[in-house]
Amino acid sequence: MFLLELKDVSKSFGGLKAVAGVSFNLEAGEILGIIGPNGAGKTTTFNTITGFLRPDSGQIWFDGIRVIGMKPHQICQKGMVRTFQLVKPFLELTVLDNVVVAALNRAKTIREASEKALKIIEFVGLKDKKDTLAMGLTLPHRKRLELARALATEPKLLLLDEVMAGLTPTEVDELIRLLMEVNRKGTTLLLIEHVMRGVMALSKRVIVLNYGEKIAEGPPHEVVKNRQVIEAYLGEEYGREEFLGAQG
Ligand SMILES: Nc1ncnc2c1ncn2[C@@H]1O[C@H](COP(=O)(O)OP(=O)(O)O)[C@@H](O)[C@H]1O
Ligand SMILES: [Mg+2]
Repeated sequence: MFLLELKDVSKSFGGLKAVAGVSFNLEAGEILGIIGPNGAGKTTTFNTITGFLRPDSGQIWFDGIRVIGMKPHQICQKGMVRTFQLVKPFLELTVLDNVVVAALNRAKTIREASEKALKIIEFVGLKDKKDTLAMGLTLPHRKRLELARALATEPKLLLLDEVMAGLTPTEVDELIRLLMEVNRKGTTLLLIEHVMRGVMALSKRVIVLNYGEKIAEGPPHEVVKNRQVIEAYLGEEYGREEFLGAQG
């Protein structure tokens, strides 16, 4: 049984087919990357998987359950959680309190949630920022907080939407190490990512979306040589440079 399975999922906004008959599956323990130009339907796909949007058609199974129609918090309870492309912490809360709130998804007492939150904050490298208000964090720290909040819900499957965007190469490397560790501890990862170095380092398999359709699927080093994939990126400012960087 797959941990996640999408079958022919479609979602339109008015006349625009943002996701057009996308099917893929994910084994427990795997790391799958989703790439594609801006507007390809990547985030919309995430939104349909995690219950933020209801697809017009298709089926989605997570851990043997049909998730379409379930609310995001119900899906989170089942063990699937996502980060947002635009990070959304509670700005007026401290780092610690942000993570405690997330940990309360599963922890039964504040005390249990606090203990868990502290461990996770240390794990993501924010220990010395635990009493800082989220609004006072730099972008890389906010991204780590976003990751900490997601991890605090103890996901089986973690969906990451462009967590590496805006980070320096060193910060990207640190995040790659952190995510490898998360995966090693047993969490399956599905990541949308433009930072090709991150995709190449982490993913065992990549799928490529373009105009809502899956145009390629395979190991990352093969997918980046696919002509259709290269063409789909050439109009994008990050495209050529990132791909050459990834291969060179
Ligand atoms: N809530 C929405 N209402 C209308 N159009 C949307 C909405 N969300 C996304 N879109 C459109 O759907 C397409 C896919 O968007 P998105 O899934 O965000 O792409 P990606 O994450 O791959 O950049 C884009 O053309 C976008 O403008
Ligand atoms: Mg997006």
